[in-house]
Amino acid sequence: MNKIRIAPSLLAADFGNLQRDVEMVNSSQAEWHHIDVMDGVFVPNISYGMPVIKNIAEHATKPLDVHLMIIEPDRYIKTFASLGANILTVHYEACPHLNRTIQAIKEEGMMAGVALNPHTSINLLADSIASIDLVCVMSVNPGYGGQKFIENTFSKVRDLKALIHEKKSKTLIEIDGGVNAENAKALVETGADVLVAGSFVFNSQDPLATISQIANIANV
Ligand code: DX5
Ligand code: ZN
Repeated sequence: MNKIRIAPSLLAADFGNLQRDVEMVNSSQAEWHHIDVMDGVFVPNISYGMPVIKNIAEHATKPLDVHLMIIEPDRYIKTFASLGANILTVHYEACPHLNRTIQAIKEEGMMAGVALNPHTSINLLADSIASIDLVCVMSVNPGYGGQKFIENTFSKVRDLKALIHEKKSKTLIEIDGGVNAENAKALVETGADVLVAGSFVFNSQDPLATISQIANIANV
């Protein structure tokens, strides 16, 4: 089994104490900071933008995993690179020229991620998986934290793992939405490499301990 990476989603952080929460992640067993950008068009909600991310980047000591839930993400690839994004994930559903978008992200020195909405089949990535560094499998409908995990995610992860294997790719599988201590272990056993967790971490009594809890469960 792979060593699991935990990426706490700052969408569930206390925005009045963002520095404190970023520093909590710095000192935790998490590997990445997950940063959700929503435009109110691709998804119904609006989260935060460049000035906030600039502040996060100033305090973060771990890689920034930026998840763009926006239309026309190509317009902002250079901007996110200059803000310090290490992994830049775009939505399959928002990219009519996915191959070009992936190349543009890599040219800026970032890992290229592609996110799939719950209704989007992993088969659509058959011709591009070898060039994708990370697939973010949405296990909720994107737009909000705190939603219920969609169980069909397991079969998608299984199929995606098989596709990655078949194409001899090194693509990482990230699961985003509704991750908790109950489903973490099964997700890793099914093939997940990265678990994003927002409300389960930040709404807990002790977020630092909760990150350790998921990391320990998932790595057993
Ligand atoms: C959903 C976001 C997620 C979200 C996860 O649109 O992409 O990253 O913050 O939050 P939880 O873990 O609360 O489902
Ligand atoms: Zn996300």
